Amino acid sequence: MKQILITGGAGYIGSHTAVALVESGYTPIIIDDFSNSEKSALDGLKNILNQEVKTYIGDCNDKALVERIFSENEISGVIHFAASKAVGESTQIPLKYYANNIGSLLVMLETMKKFDVKNIVFSSSCTVYGQPDELPVLESTPRKDAESPYGNTKKICEDILHDHVKSKSGAKIVSLRYFNPIGAHPSSEIGELPLGVPANLIPFVTQTAAGLREKITVFGDDYNTKDGTCVRDYIHVLDLADAHVKSLEYLDSQEANFIDTFNVGTGNGNTVLEVIQAFEKVSERKLKYELGPRRPGDIEKVWANTDKVNKVLGWNAKYSLEESLRDSWNWQKRLSNL
Ligand SMILES: NC(=O)c1ccc[n+]([C@@H]2O[C@H](COP(=O)([O-])OP(=O)(O)OC[C@H]3O[C@@H](n4cnc5c(N)ncnc54)[C@H](O)[C@@H]3O)[C@@H](O)[C@H]2O)c1
Repeated sequence: MKQILITGGAGYIGSHTAVALVESGYTPIIIDDFSNSEKSALDGLKNILNQEVKTYIGDCNDKALVERIFSENEISGVIHFAASKAVGESTQIPLKYYANNIGSLLVMLETMKKFDVKNIVFSSSCTVYGQPDELPVLESTPRKDAESPYGNTKKICEDILHDHVKSKSGAKIVSLRYFNPIGAHPSSEIGELPLGVPANLIPFVTQTAAGLREKITVFGDDYNTKDGTCVRDYIHVLDLADAHVKSLEYLDSQEANFIDTFNVGTGNGNTVLEVIQAFEKVSERKLKYELGPRRPGDIEKVWANTDKVNKVLGWNAKYSLEESLRDSWNWQKRLSNL
């Protein structure tokens, strides 16, 4: 069974990907420093899988630790999720973001080279497109200046990966540009654990429905969209996890010095108000919301063209918005003991 190192594997997307890997016959090994996750995620994984996932607790910037992981195991590939991801915080403490997100990738690439491990899947983001001139957005759509230091780290990491391949390092790389992951494992054993006030819509919605927040503020209702609110492409985290497994399979059939990039979204855009209405239907709860001013840094609308990922990876999003929201809500109910 091929061993895959999942950096940030206790986090939201990483934990769901660990499940998808086991279901596809891989053995995941996690490294996480719990800077944005909790050990309970490992218990959740154990409950789903009926087995422990081997886990190293520590920082991926710790070269000695990362080298130890590679020497103690037969790692055949890496999925690099570990990063700091709060867009707002990145504008206040940018150096933390540059150090963690870029530093950890460099340590990973150097160690992989040393141990002759070629395959890596990298977590990029649709933030690299900024507000695209044309929609839906293609992988070939030019990237724009980043709106935040966080977004810039993703652009820089993509550039590093391209330079690494150009240098004939031997690496084989897939960079996945995620759109907006939502949902949770249907067992409600794992899900998104936002620390503090959530910056993303769905945790805000579910926490409001659970009575933890009084109301949702919709940031801006005067955008050029069908109801004036922002449009995003919401994708179930299980679909996203599956795209990582497909990426590893794809890399296996490539020659050395290879890089490819894929959008991972559903191909559909939904407005904030549509999401709120869909959630009300799924949860059978009425949500209080108010229309507020635009939030600096938010783009108006973005959704993916998924032709490339559908065709080349043979991957399709399977879950609807309603199914994704149902799983987000079940997860919140579990967290809130409802
Ligand atoms: N969730 C999203 O909306 C979204 C969208 C686009 C891209 N991404 C990217 O996907 C990846 C995973 O996102 P997520 O939503 O699962 O985030 P998350 O915060 O839930 O998971 C990241 C995990 O990495 C860990 N981590 C961070 N720095 C580390 C380090 N130096 N060493 C060891 N562990 C470290 C955290 O403790 C956490 O468990 C990130 O790279 C993120 O930037 C996320």
